[in-house]
Amino acid sequence: MQLLADGQFHVALVDIRMPGLDGLQVLTRSREISPNTQVIIITAFGTVDSAVEAIKLGASDYVVKPFVFDDIIIKINRLLDMQRLTAENTFLRTALGEQYRFDGIIGESKQLQALLATVEKLARTRTTALIIGDSGTGKELIARAIHYGGITKAGEFVAINCASMPENLVESELFGHRRGAFTGADANKPGLFEIADRGTVFLDEVSNMPLPMQAKLLRAIEEKQIMPLGATEPVSVEARILCATNADLKTETDAGRFREDLYYRLSVVEMRIPPLRERREDIPALIDHFVAQYAGELKSACRGATDNALRAMMAYSWPGNVRELKNVIERAMIFADNREIDVGDLAFVSETTEGAPQADSDLRSAVRAYERQHILQALTGNNFDKAATARALNVGVSSLYRKMDEFGIGKRPPKQ
Ligand SMILES: Nc1ncnc2c1ncn2[C@@H]1O[C@H](COP(=O)(O)OP(=O)(O)O)[C@@H](O)[C@H]1O
Ligand SMILES: [Mg+2]
Repeated sequence: MQLLADGQFHVALVDIRMPGLDGLQVLTRSREISPNTQVIIITAFGTVDSAVEAIKLGASDYVVKPFVFDDIIIKINRLLDMQRLTAENTFLRTALGEQYRFDGIIGESKQLQALLATVEKLARTRTTALIIGDSGTGKELIARAIHYGGITKAGEFVAINCASMPENLVESELFGHRRGAFTGADANKPGLFEIADRGTVFLDEVSNMPLPMQAKLLRAIEEKQIMPLGATEPVSVEARILCATNADLKTETDAGRFREDLYYRLSVVEMRIPPLRERREDIPALIDHFVAQYAGELKSACRGATDNALRAMMAYSWPGNVRELKNVIERAMIFADNREIDVGDLAFVSETTEGAPQADSDLRSAVRAYERQHILQALTGNNFDKAATARALNVGVSSLYRKMDEFGIGKRPPKQ
């Protein structure tokens, strides 16, 4: 007992029958003073009851006398493997947590600072939240910050993309299935809700969730229970749900493609991440952040951007938002010849200068070149959604189409 209290034993082999303290008492004490020590109990042949008792008290395994040595070696090795995995898991979780701390989210704009304040409040609760924003604005990053920044961090963070998952797989993925539930289900499989018990389930592009699945999700949220496919009994789970969407869920609801009751359940708290072009003051800090990150990863000597490059990045519309900025910086740092990224290293510059007015062209053609460029940028920024672009440009949809014809702009984004 003294050794147990002093030292760090991975595994203890304990006979049940001993003078003084018996094995079960040693087991109980050991669970208290050295909870990481795995205990294997040695019982005499014919005393199964005490083995059962030992397992209930927290023994990891038992062997029956007379025993075979190899058998014990196998059992010990199994326990050691398990401990290694647990330690590794704890380590990885801490590392992940660090990676997703609030300070990994860069942004000085008022909008982002307000979002961070909400993240901090949400992290203290298990409240459901809906994160709305265009692709690449940082929805998943925010979701992870909420998870790793608070009470859910001891549990798992699991993400599922509702748009890329075939309809018939979503349910088994989320709720799991029992062996034999359908052809090919040859083993029990826990669903993401079970894996994320006490943690977070992140439903990405939730507007694409099939309607029948929406009904099941609603029930799961309301009853805090799920029904794995092929199961006869529901399973209780306590997983926090965070959802992301780039579509307007309210519109989807009005159009009957999204259940209204589910929408209200999911949007207890709504967080809107504005596109990058609406918070340009975040761009310099993001550039610094990604330059520093890639300087390490790419072993690059590049330490920043020239004034011209910075100006170009401040002026660009960033249809792909922060994800695009990150990629532009990575590419620029691979190609930059100097210690600073220059305009020519920026991927989007070659695309945008094509069609830009020549310095010596007459006013009319310069204006036309500018007009074409402006429309193209607006279209790109709105994913070629003509109605949204027309609104942004404050012109009618039909005149937008007329201009597109006139300038030879296609109806879809040009291939990269
Ligand atoms: N404010 C931010 N600070 C630092 N990195 C960010 C920020 N916003 C987005 N990113 C990075 O941009 C990329 C895209 O973010 P992500 O969360 O996947 O966007 P979304 O889920 O909205 O498409 C990720 O690599 C993410 O780490
Ligand atoms: Mg995403």
